[in-house]
Amino acid sequence: MSSIKFNPGLLTTAFGALGLLAACSGDPDSPGLEYMPDMYRSPAVEAYVDYGQDPYYFGDSLTSAQRATPSARLPVEGTIPFAGSEADAAFNFPYPYPHTPEGYEQAGLELHSPIAMTEATVEQGKVIYEKFCVECHGAKGKGDGPVVAKGNYPPPPAYDGAQLKNLPEGKIFHSITYGRNIAMGSHASQLNHKERWLVVQYVKYLQNGGNMTAAPVAPDTVAQAK
Ligand code: HEC
Repeated sequence: MSSIKFNPGLLTTAFGALGLLAACSGDPDSPGLEYMPDMYRSPAVEAYVDYGQDPYYFGDSLTSAQRATPSARLPVEGTIPFAGSEADAAFNFPYPYPHTPEGYEQAGLELHSPIAMTEATVEQGKVIYEKFCVECHGAKGKGDGPVVAKGNYPPPPAYDGAQLKNLPEGKIFHSITYGRNIAMGSHASQLNHKERWLVVQYVKYLQNGGNMTAAPVAPDTVAQAK
C-alpha cells in the first residue's frame, strides 16, 4: 500500500490558488487585495528635499515619519567624494585657504597647480574659459568681453597687463573659488577643483600673451607689480 507523501510543491500551488481567488472581487474598479503595497507604490523620496525641515503642514505623525526619511545627506565629516580615478580623488580635498585677504596672500605663496601645463591641458582649460569667463574677460583675456563691451559693467584688468601679468596661479585659483571684490562672483559651484586648475592653465597661457609658459610665475613679483 502506498502512503500519501507530503508534497511541498502541491501545497504551494494550493495556497497560490487560494490567494488568487481571494484577490478577486466583484467590483471591476477594485485593485483587489494588495499583499505588499509598498512594492506597488513605493514612497517617492525626492533627492535634495530636507524632510526634516520646518515648517510642517501635515500634522505630527507625518512630520516624525519624514524626519526619519533619509534624503540627500551631508557627507560624513572628514570624508571626501570619491569618483572616477584615484588621482582625481585628491582634487576633492577641502580648500584650506579662507576667504580673507590673508587667505588670498597665502594661497598666492603656497598653492601650486597639481597639473603640469601641456598643450592638451591648455586646450581643456580653453573649453572651460569659453563657457564661463569669456563673456567678461574676452577671448584673449584683455577684459573686453561682450558683457563689458555693452558698457554697463566694469572692465576686468587684462591678464597680460601690469596688474595681472605676474599674478601667481594660487591667487588665480583663489579668485575663481571665492570671486574677486564685488565685480567677479565665485565660480565654486560651477567648476570643481580640477576644472578650476584647468582654467587656471588657460589664464596663465593668456597672461603669457597666448604662449605656453616656460617657468612657473614667481609668487613675490605680484606685490611689486601692484
Ligand atoms: C561677470 C564677469 C566676470 C566673469 C564671468 C569672470 N570674471 Fe574674472 N574678473 C572680473 C572682474 C570685473 C575682475 C576684476 C575684479 C577686481 O579686481 O576688482 C576679474 C578678475 C579676475 C582675475 C584676477 C583676480 C585677482 O586675484 O586679481 C582672474 C584671474 C579672473 N578674473 C579669472 C576669471 C576666470 C578664470 C573666470 C571664469 C572661470 C572669470 N574670471 C569669470 C569679471 C568676471
